[in-house]
Amino acid sequence: MSTKPHAPPLSLVQTLADRFAGKLPGNEPCGLGVPVEHYTDQQRFEAERKRLFLRRPLIIGHESQIPAPGDSIVYDWLGLPLITMRDKSGKLGTFMNVCRHRGMRLVQEQGQTCLRSLVCPYHQWTYGLDGSLRNIPRRESFGEIDLSDRGLVALPTEVRNGLIWIKARPGEARPGKARPGEARPGAAEPAGTMGLDQHLAGLDADLDEFALADYHFFRQNVRTVACNWKLIQDAFLDGYHVTRLHKDTVGAFFPDALSTSDRLGDHIRSAVARNEIAEAADCAGSELDLRHHATFAYTVFPNAIIIFHPDYTSVISLFPLSPDQTIFAHSMLVPRPPASAGEQDHFERSFELIDQGVFQAEDIFVSEGAQRGMRSGANRELLFGGLEESAVQFHQTIERELA
Ligand code: FES
Ligand SMILES: [Fe+2]
Repeated sequence: MSTKPHAPPLSLVQTLADRFAGKLPGNEPCGLGVPVEHYTDQQRFEAERKRLFLRRPLIIGHESQIPAPGDSIVYDWLGLPLITMRDKSGKLGTFMNVCRHRGMRLVQEQGQTCLRSLVCPYHQWTYGLDGSLRNIPRRESFGEIDLSDRGLVALPTEVRNGLIWIKARPGEARPGKARPGEARPGAAEPAGTMGLDQHLAGLDADLDEFALADYHFFRQNVRTVACNWKLIQDAFLDGYHVTRLHKDTVGAFFPDALSTSDRLGDHIRSAVARNEIAEAADCAGSELDLRHHATFAYTVFPNAIIIFHPDYTSVISLFPLSPDQTIFAHSMLVPRPPASAGEQDHFERSFELIDQGVFQAEDIFVSEGAQRGMRSGANRELLFGGLEESAVQFHQTIERELA
């Protein structure tokens, strides 16, 4: 992975403008086959989960989802019971949602909630919002017991560009608070270290240009979809289908087959030209606009997609449950909290269009359809051409990681 400075995202808009004007050639033809077993095989699924999902920093939300002390997100998306919460000092921490007494689940519901403390329903051991054990009823019955040894098991957690990143390390996590850079007795590395800079490979500079940290959480939909997680990534790495599959929704906003992509470390940034690219041919470079002339989608390796629509942003995280079952968590972020009923209504309708009309009825529809088709034996492999070249890069990165 490289962290050397890279060209700003506007360079991709310039490429699209030059291609539109005929000054640059389009995508090179290619033909890559990805074996069907990569989407259906149980052993392959388990290797991906272990090597890609349990060893990499992953996005689990935007910090504006949980702005106040006690605000929490409860989720089992990684096959682990986890809770990310904001403590009284405003810091975020992620913990196993598991009591240190006899292992009962502490918070039962999943999703966003607000807590004052965590009280185990079994014997009422009580934990603070920072994961520390605060009270053991009838404590004398345990003899000499040190509360500080029995805080909730913490996972590394960091906020960057407003996004909350965690790293799951089952079996390696240790009790107590995990803050970035904090050393812990007996730990081989500082507790909060997740190698985020190396993982991002400069992606944070791009997300800064889109001012992602200034955005506000608006709505979320978490659903389980009946397909392999990589079929969803494939669908978002494909400029080929935009005017075809999306012809009844957003397809009319885009010229056909005009997209470009490049890599930032293991991540892929893709830009699809919008119709406004026709004006860009006459623009000085400084007048090109990241959201007006193109729609950017960042494939954050391995499992997230950040899409910068003209006036809002979608953050999608994928969590595989089995070879053909995936959690699809979509959050919509808006540039400011809606200031009027009209603005609220505008964003509500935008969420409905993108979440249901585009993602569910079109992108997820074809991903689930392709998964069903794999069971038929009609294809031994899926074929990717030059307009799907960024999906080819994504599969090559996975092969490298699993090798
Ligand atoms: S298992 Fe939680 S208090 Fe006993
Ligand atoms: Fe799509």
